[in-house]
Amino acid sequence: MYIPEEKVSEILNTSDIVDVISESVILKKSGRNFFGLCPFHSEKTPSFSVNASKQIFHCFGCSAGGNVLSYIMKYHGISFPEAAKMVARKYNITIESETINPAKRKEIHLKEGLFRLNKTVMGFYFDELKKSSNGVKARNYLKQRGISDDIIQQFKLGFSLDAWESIVQVIRKQKVDRNIAVQSGLILERKQEKGYYDRFRNRIMFPIFDVNMQVAGFGGRVMDDAMPKYMNSPETPIYNKSRILYGLHEAKQYCRQKGFVYIVEGYFDFLSLYQHGIKNTVATLGTALTSDHVRILKGYAPKMVLVFDSDAAGISAAKRSIKIFMKEGVDTRVLVLPGDNDPDSYVTKHGQDAFNTCASKAKTVMQFLLQVSIETHGLSVEGRIRILNDMKQHLILIQDTALRSLYVKELAETLNIDEKAVLEKVRDQYLNRSDKRLSLMDENINEDMLESDRREEQMVSMMLNRPETIEKIKDSDVLKYFYSEKLKQLAKKIISMDPKKEAFITNVMANMKNNEDQELIASYAMKDFDSEQDVHQTARSLINRIIRVRKKQENTLTNKIISAEKGSDSEVMELLKQKQAEIQQLHSRL
Ligand code: CTP
Ligand code: MN
Repeated sequence: MYIPEEKVSEILNTSDIVDVISESVILKKSGRNFFGLCPFHSEKTPSFSVNASKQIFHCFGCSAGGNVLSYIMKYHGISFPEAAKMVARKYNITIESETINPAKRKEIHLKEGLFRLNKTVMGFYFDELKKSSNGVKARNYLKQRGISDDIIQQFKLGFSLDAWESIVQVIRKQKVDRNIAVQSGLILERKQEKGYYDRFRNRIMFPIFDVNMQVAGFGGRVMDDAMPKYMNSPETPIYNKSRILYGLHEAKQYCRQKGFVYIVEGYFDFLSLYQHGIKNTVATLGTALTSDHVRILKGYAPKMVLVFDSDAAGISAAKRSIKIFMKEGVDTRVLVLPGDNDPDSYVTKHGQDAFNTCASKAKTVMQFLLQVSIETHGLSVEGRIRILNDMKQHLILIQDTALRSLYVKELAETLNIDEKAVLEKVRDQYLNRSDKRLSLMDENINEDMLESDRREEQMVSMMLNRPETIEKIKDSDVLKYFYSEKLKQLAKKIISMDPKKEAFITNVMANMKNNEDQELIASYAMKDFDSEQDVHQTARSLINRIIRVRKKQENTLTNKIISAEKGSDSEVMELLKQKQAEIQQLHSRL
């Protein structure tokens, strides 16, 4: 269902966020804001704040944030239209469906159709497993793997018949639109003749839910040694592998409770752990973990424990994922299970307590990498030098200097090498990577660069809190000079809205598609923008400053590139160009 923009505005303007959130969080007024215990992460002192005049919430602990609708969505784990309807009901606002533009309508129609079809097919697979005589083999298979009826019920496991056209027939009977049927990936076009056939045949079926509890896709496993062992839905408009995590729709509440999440690889790993009471778990379904995955998980738990098979593939997968965690700055542990176990076989054999004991010994990332390196090179003199060489690359990635020196100390002790020697190696590595580039860089550029992010953020805060400045900002074309792509994008959206609109901040938020953007808007809007001076004066000087600094930096770099080109110093030229790209990238990370 689509809620027209005007309705969303009406809901936002009529509702009161303090009133709504008070239904689920105890709020106390303190200064300009209300504070309470954050429902999105576990905490003992309140860092969850609600601002009545801006009609937004923001958690200083886990950085969840948004308007009343994002709150309801996040809190109840429901979709945007559902949240809108829920709040509308509370305030007696009626929503009638209205006309929307044709492209949008088509997209909504397609997505709704895909979800509906998947739900129907899930029911079909589920019934085949539970009721039909055909399902006996599948029921036995699940029993033999120790999966309980409760788990089958809760995760709606199913069985796809050993037939070519059973889903084709379901689709025909229900008169599902052909485009929707094909895009769902549930059926495939025949090559030799006309017609279609089922993608999933004779497999245990796992519906894959998104966080809104809608069926986004399926996975299917054979019940013997046939290949391929697993088959999955292709990417569709509603199924994006790099964003979906199996089980999150049920696990999210437990992740919040426990404050951490186990990340496993497979369907059975997830289900077995869940069945054994280890419910704060998600599965990546064999695909590489992505930054999107990590960002999504961050919304539910600040700490993550990677659980991998102890085989070589598992270890290299762990190593790959670690880079992503470092980049996202997440507290990560690595748990390698003893023996030849994966999480499923381990917990099935040894039970919940044994798993928890193991998990409590999960290693930090550095300890894990060190262990792998020791196992590879051994502790001979040569081995230890190689280990040191391995580890220095990882150590320089640690931003926190205190933490880094702790690891250096630990490494020195483990390898029985003088701490100073280890430090020197790390320093060498550091210099090696950055010497030329750093020395080429104008000191001022370095400082200016950090400053400009701050200024750009300030400008976004100003636009939100003082929309009367937007016109001037728009006229000055200053966004063109933003370094941060993210802020530029947000600012562009803000500028495109009518600054005279009531409840400006919440309306801006309503226009932000994803949760992350909403959270950013909430955090910038929360910043108090008390300008001593005339706000237009402040706007003017911010605009000038941003434009001037950017122009100056570009000039300096461009001049250097030009003179390097003249002197045909290609190496320096390359480095400068790289620097230019790097500066851009540094900002776009935000
Ligand atoms: N996977 C996949 N396609 C494959 C193999 C694996 O999509 N051909 C995904 C599945 O989601 C699977 C996960 O990767 O659950 C992990 O693969 P693997 O370790 O091989 O399987 P297990 O989960 O251990 O499966 P099982 O216990 O059923 O053998
Ligand atoms: Mn397994």
